[in-house]
Amino acid sequence: MTSRITINTLYSMKQKGEKIAAITAYDYPFAKIADEAGVHIILVGDSLGMVVQGEANTLGVTMDQMVYHTRIVEKAVNHAMVIADMPFMSYQTSLEQAIANAGRFLKQSNAAAVKLEGGAAVSKTIKAITACGIPVQAHIGLLPQSVHQMGGYRVQRDEAQLLSDARMVEEAGAFSVVLEGIPADIAAEITRTISIPTIGIGAGPDCDGQILVIHDLLGMTDRRLPKFVKQYASIREQAAEGIKSYVADVQSRTFPSKDHSY
Ligand code: KIV
Repeated sequence: MTSRITINTLYSMKQKGEKIAAITAYDYPFAKIADEAGVHIILVGDSLGMVVQGEANTLGVTMDQMVYHTRIVEKAVNHAMVIADMPFMSYQTSLEQAIANAGRFLKQSNAAAVKLEGGAAVSKTIKAITACGIPVQAHIGLLPQSVHQMGGYRVQRDEAQLLSDARMVEEAGAFSVVLEGIPADIAAEITRTISIPTIGIGAGPDCDGQILVIHDLLGMTDRRLPKFVKQYASIREQAAEGIKSYVADVQSRTFPSKDHSY
């Protein structure tokens, strides 16, 4: 049995300058593939609203859905750290609500940590959850759950605000912070300034680690990919080819052959 990645592994990787590779996953088979391929963090992201449920944004994702998906991902994983994303309005109403929902992820889905969006505005929430012994990953910059308030998915460029957010979430006790959609030089400055690992998505090469949505990375989606995505496989095309061949074989009576019959 291999040992699991913990927050201490991630701190030590930052100190040694070893890059952290993170990916999202939402189900057992892809979580298993990602874990066996050696990723350090698997985030069960609320991006599942878009890439799995086909919604236009992440806002409709519920706690029950996130707990279900995190549970099946966690069952597949032997090595990576599994982080559960707290969905929109599961931590904003009160500290009690935030603690109860964060706790649900550890109790009901075996996640090792939770992630929530926001900087200074959620620092009290991060403090309250970590005080219960639940590790929190923060998320600053472009905040998909605030898409309407931000007027769309826009790169965030206010350096003073971003640096202050990063310092506040570190002070509040976050063990790591996702930097989404911010200029590379600001992400590099944040990464130098704070002692917790930064995980970038659309934040340039100098973060302590990187994260991508698995559907984007493997070419499983028909949506237009953002500039920051590098596509490493074309699963959608391969799957379509495979299924077309199956349809043709059924119609031409080539499948099932004697080899596939009893
Ligand atoms: O929901 C998600 O997948 C995320 C990552 C893109 C960081 O928040």
